[in-house]
Amino acid sequence: MPHSYLLVEVDDAGIALVSINRPDKLNALSGAVVAELEDVFAGIARDSSIRALILTGVGEKAFVAGADIQELSQLTAFEARQFAVRGQRTFRMLETMPKPSVAAINGYALGGGLELAMACTVRFAAESAKMGQPEVKLGIIPGYGGTQRLPRLVGRGRALELLLSGEPVPAAEALRIGLVNAVVPQCDLLSHSRAWLGKILANAPLALGLVMEAVDAGLNVSLEEGLRFEAAAFGVSAATEDRREGTRAFLEKRRAVFAGK
Ligand code: COA
Repeated sequence: MPHSYLLVEVDDAGIALVSINRPDKLNALSGAVVAELEDVFAGIARDSSIRALILTGVGEKAFVAGADIQELSQLTAFEARQFAVRGQRTFRMLETMPKPSVAAINGYALGGGLELAMACTVRFAAESAKMGQPEVKLGIIPGYGGTQRLPRLVGRGRALELLLSGEPVPAAEALRIGLVNAVVPQCDLLSHSRAWLGKILANAPLALGLVMEAVDAGLNVSLEEGLRFEAAAFGVSAATEDRREGTRAFLEKRRAVFAGK
């Protein structure tokens, strides 16, 4: 599928940079943009040469300023439900991919933009970034997971504060409440994201996927069930060649070289 609103570049380290390219509308997520994201995420999930991804927005002003309000204003109730289901499915594909993802938040991340960032493994924000869930100001509620992921990330009280006020928070406040993992100067955002991923990707690939799966599974079930999942995944990790290589390398006092097997 050719992409009109996304730029995708894959570097030598296997990191895909996916840039939402609709700067005249502050990279707002129209139905077409979400369809392209779904297509790109499916392609990245299938492509074993791609090990991680960075999501960002074109321009210096916005990561994504939300779902497309022009389109939202026209939806029937049934279409709105479909709209939410499609976006949720797309973001969940990103979230459950066994490949780490970084939201490089280069400006406004509002509504669907923050929801997209929250579906990433981690979030790094430029100093100028602003983040919020302004849907209640438009007479709607978040439909791409905001009411679910925000309390999981920052806790119930802070999530409700953001969701009910609709007011954005600046990057420094987002860092303080744990909504983003780090704040860096705008010019360093991509290099910081790549450097972080570079460190992560030096670790055992299958173990990375299992950690992400265990955290995701555990957040949605009881502690007992989560622990059972962890034990089973631990068992799987112990059966990998990477486990043999990692433990042997430690004992031989050398750096491990993982094959992802
Ligand atoms: N959907 C559709 N178009 C959007 C948009 C969105 N979510 N956010 C911005 N745009 C468009 C504007 O309509 C404008 O288009 P135009 O030049 O054709 O009029 C263009 O992007 C630039 O935005 P503008 O509002 O002029 O920029 P600003 O710097 O004055 O304000 C924001 C920036 C982010 C504060 C403001 O655009 C805004 O509040 N956007 C909506 C945020 C929101 O409610 N998102 C949640 C949607 S569920």
